[in-house]
Amino acid sequence: MNLFRLDASIRTEGSVSRALADTAEKAWLAEHPGGVVTRRDLGFQPLPGDAWTALAHEVVNPAAPAPAEAHELLDRLGAELLAADAFLFAVPMYNWNVPEQVKTWIDLILKHDQVGIHGDQPLKGKPALLTLSRGGGYGPGSPKEGWDYATPYLRRILADVFGLDLQIAEAELTHAFWNPEMAHLRGLAEESMKTGHEDAAEHGLRIAKLSRV
Ligand SMILES: Cc1cc2nc3c(=O)[nH]c(=O)nc-3n(C[C@H](O)[C@H](O)[C@H](O)COP(=O)(O)O)c2cc1C
Repeated sequence: MNLFRLDASIRTEGSVSRALADTAEKAWLAEHPGGVVTRRDLGFQPLPGDAWTALAHEVVNPAAPAPAEAHELLDRLGAELLAADAFLFAVPMYNWNVPEQVKTWIDLILKHDQVGIHGDQPLKGKPALLTLSRGGGYGPGSPKEGWDYATPYLRRILADVFGLDLQIAEAELTHAFWNPEMAHLRGLAEESMKTGHEDAAEHGLRIAKLSRV
């Protein structure tokens, strides 16, 4: 059994998206003690920013082929996904959207022959969990309702384009733990964190059970 795990937070100490994913990974490994976790850490090992541009140029100008390294990278990223039985994506919100490294990873993968836009959804129906963290709050009635562009975009790509059977575990208001101006929101932040970990454990177990199918 192979769990593909992608992380994107630029920190390890105190990272909420990573902590939620750790909870889910623990639940998955408890069901699959000999399971392999294949890690892609975009927060600490950024992808080369020019690979997608070179591959995109190649399409509009075949006279300027992309370097072999760009093709090799794309093959490697695709192979990581094709080898997995289950998926765990841990993504923080940066600037009301996904981290640029996640956008880079998605843009590259969308060019992959099998997994990408022109492929035939080889990941369709496989179990996946997305853990999300946000410093602020974006729920109904909050001042920034509608500003969360990360969640709908990730759902579109992971569930609709890749066809993954996607669940979400999330925690928001994480800034309330240290920002004095958000001290009045600390209770809500604690509640969100607790629910996030409960959901991560539940869905971690769920993707572990579905990995067997
Ligand atoms: C560069 C940067 C940009 C951020 N932008 C936002 C934002 O637009 N909205 C928000 O609610 N939180 C924002 N945050 C806060 C993070 O979403 C929050 O700290 C979250 O917990 C980060 O995930 P992590 O705990 O896994 O590192 C930002 C943090 C950083 C470092």
